[in-house]
Amino acid sequence: MHSNVNEKKIITILGATGSIGRSTIDVISKSPDLFNVHAVTANKNAAALAQVAKKVGAKKAVIADELKAGELEPALAGTGIIIEAGQDAISRVAGEKVDLVIAAIMGFAGLRPILAALEQGINIAIANKEPLVAAGEMITALAKEKGCTLIPVDSEHNAIFQVFEKHNIKQIDRLILTASGGPFLRWSKEEIQKATPEKAIEHPTWSMGAKISVDSATLMNKALEIIEAAHLFNMPAEKIDVVIHPQSIVHSIVSYKDGSMLSQMGASDMRTPIALALGWPHRLDNGGNVLDIATLTEGNGLTFEKPDTDKYPSLNYAYKCLELGQAACITLNAANEVAVARFLNHEIAFGDIMRCVTHSIDKLYPELVTSGVCDKNNLKTVEDIEKLDTIVRRATNNFIDSSCIPPA
Ligand SMILES: NC(=O)c1ccc[n+]([C@@H]2O[C@H](COP(=O)([O-])OP(=O)(O)OC[C@H]3O[C@@H](n4cnc5c(N)ncnc54)[C@H](OP(=O)(O)O)[C@@H]3O)[C@@H](O)[C@H]2O)c1
Repeated sequence: MHSNVNEKKIITILGATGSIGRSTIDVISKSPDLFNVHAVTANKNAAALAQVAKKVGAKKAVIADELKAGELEPALAGTGIIIEAGQDAISRVAGEKVDLVIAAIMGFAGLRPILAALEQGINIAIANKEPLVAAGEMITALAKEKGCTLIPVDSEHNAIFQVFEKHNIKQIDRLILTASGGPFLRWSKEEIQKATPEKAIEHPTWSMGAKISVDSATLMNKALEIIEAAHLFNMPAEKIDVVIHPQSIVHSIVSYKDGSMLSQMGASDMRTPIALALGWPHRLDNGGNVLDIATLTEGNGLTFEKPDTDKYPSLNYAYKCLELGQAACITLNAANEVAVARFLNHEIAFGDIMRCVTHSIDKLYPELVTSGVCDKNNLKTVEDIEKLDTIVRRATNNFIDSSCIPPA
């Protein structure tokens, strides 16, 4: 742990070209004396990776898609930045000695790099929620074994992290995750079914990557966050609630048995939780963007309401999957990742995303249990987890190809 606030931290940014990655770069660029960047990574976007690598003066630029390495070479010529390529290279670099890894890859693909960093005893600022959903026990157990801290970047979990009294854990009544409700909060059930990708990624309060924006519109994001919270804070499902808070100012609440409700508030700007994670255990100057609380006046104030689980069944599936166990959580996440990708590709309708998710848990999961694929003893290694993820992805693609009519 850095005891001195002025000590330089060496960091690696996984997913540096994405929404969280770029916000991270924005935060560190305001405190250039406090950070050195060892490596930045991306999937396919070579031009953007070269640009961010130069901007932060990274030692290494690593691209998952080997075919794109050729594009990186001319873009980084003469800079001295070392280029590496391939999915394995990302995990290898994630395990190279630094003070903090920022896990901001989108999706399940971020699992191996997270495990690689933890294996080397590196603390992680974790935004990448899908690996926590699919392999939460494995990640938190490894972090504990290696003495690493997982600092949540997801704004809700980051808020809880800030007001979570470990010494009073038995006095915690519940964790209350706040949800904006997404772009379709006031739409009818029928209108939502036909929403386009363009509408789904227009988030009312947050600016985010495409996949998480769609997840916010289905409330699957909150479903994934329920599972994420259960693992990060070791809380049973029945102690985790969700409340709709359209203004996204109160970022989550820990409710204690003495009646105290502790929350963290702030503008809807990911740079605040990112700054907390980068600076932890100290706080950074984030260059402004402090909420002017006096503007939250009557008619423009803070509201809270119960989620409509009839319109948004995803929340019920999170609780169900936590009860069923890890195989169900892997199934839920993989089906959702496939469905969202195909929706963003205009291949299925918005309403089909939840059809895929419900099919995966109500039909596919019981079949996989019967065939023995979901047996606990078959989920001991990362290879086992990846195998089940692949099976569900294939089955979900088949379900889409056989039963979904592409939108007009
Ligand atoms: N955005 C937010 O405000 C927010 C808030 C809370 C939590 N999160 C979580 O943070 C994670 C990242 O979200 P985001 O919105 O920043 O996503 P994003 O904008 O789509 O960026 C994703 C990043 O991951 C890289 N990537 C994608 N697939 C990869 C793969 N197979 N292998 C290696 N790298 C890969 C992308 O590279 P290319 O650019 O080359 O595609 C990009 O750098 C997600 O798990 C999300 O749920 C995001």
